[in-house]
Amino acid sequence: MREGSDQSNNAGSIDLNKENGSRLDSPQSSSIIEQLERKGSLSKAEYIQLLQDDSASTAELIFEKARRIRNQHYSNHIYVRGLIETTNYCQNDCFYCGIRRSNRQVVRYRLSGEEILGCCHRGYEMGFRTFVLQGGEDPAWTDEKVAKLVAAIKHRYPDCAVTLSLGERKKESYQLYYEAGADRYLLRHETANDSHYRMLHPPELSLEHRRQCLWNLKEIGFQIGTGMMVGSPGQTLECLADDFMFIQELQPHMVGIGPFISHKDTPFHDALNGTLMQTLRILGILRIMLPKALLPATTALATIDPIGREKGILAGANVIMPNLTPQEARKNYMLYDNKKSTGLENAEGLIELKKSMREMGYEIVVSRGDYAGFCVN
Ligand code: 5AD
Repeated sequence: MREGSDQSNNAGSIDLNKENGSRLDSPQSSSIIEQLERKGSLSKAEYIQLLQDDSASTAELIFEKARRIRNQHYSNHIYVRGLIETTNYCQNDCFYCGIRRSNRQVVRYRLSGEEILGCCHRGYEMGFRTFVLQGGEDPAWTDEKVAKLVAAIKHRYPDCAVTLSLGERKKESYQLYYEAGADRYLLRHETANDSHYRMLHPPELSLEHRRQCLWNLKEIGFQIGTGMMVGSPGQTLECLADDFMFIQELQPHMVGIGPFISHKDTPFHDALNGTLMQTLRILGILRIMLPKALLPATTALATIDPIGREKGILAGANVIMPNLTPQEARKNYMLYDNKKSTGLENAEGLIELKKSMREMGYEIVVSRGDYAGFCVN
């Protein structure tokens, strides 16, 4: 572990506080932040109080602390994951999501095992050592098929980690994937507030089941990731405080958060998007709560701001997930409008990303990028 210093990472000319809050910071915020760092936890009322303070000075306090804490555990290293969007078929009908079952406008696709291995091949050559297979809940991807694919990737690339993000499945299915060699599993809880969960999802989906999936994954031995959208319709500060309380209890290894962005063919087509600052503040708070967490600067963040990724890193994130999905398929994996397709995923794009990160004082490393101290078999 290297002792980090904030001086090595220079925020340069990027002003995280450009769209800063109007209210004055509360003197209590700094003591709440101190407490979060000391204990790794807060009460729900304290989270609400901290979230109510949208002053620029409190945000800056959060970001500075978040950067220092991240650097203590991960130095100035940024990990990249190659994202492969395996299928946009989905049996679910989540109200916010562009690939929901009842969206008839979507051109559906399903990559074959060979196509996915092809993506891994390209990714490996570029220096990726983690592949994230993400898809809708597609029953055609049976347990056997998933396990076979995972085993094939691990066989060809034994030095790589495989992360799955395929939704809610039975515990036995997760166990099978783990035994096939999958290392990590991402399943955002989306919101930890029960009535809010019901506003975002059809009645056949439940928060309780989603939570249980996460506990099952953890028990099996996966490095697990959860997360939520910021600013989703109906979300209150209380909902966000519930998210923090849940994350604090779950102690995940990864947390993916990004702003909610409306999609034109969903029931939430007219809803307001989440904001950059709220997302960044929450990223920073998560870093302080979970010092060793792997926190991505997400595509959604990059979609609402041209340098959203960079801003995410300056708020405490340490992971970037360039997209390795073939272009033809990618344009049909539209979870929200204008989803950014950055070009980071070709070799030149990656070189650009490395350069821009280096200018900020960060280093993109060729590494699986496991959770600090996680024992990998
Ligand atoms: N805006 C932002 N994020 C979204 N996701 C799904 N739909 C949207 C949207 N409209 C996120 C969910 C899901 C992840 C894969 O993408 O949080 O877990």
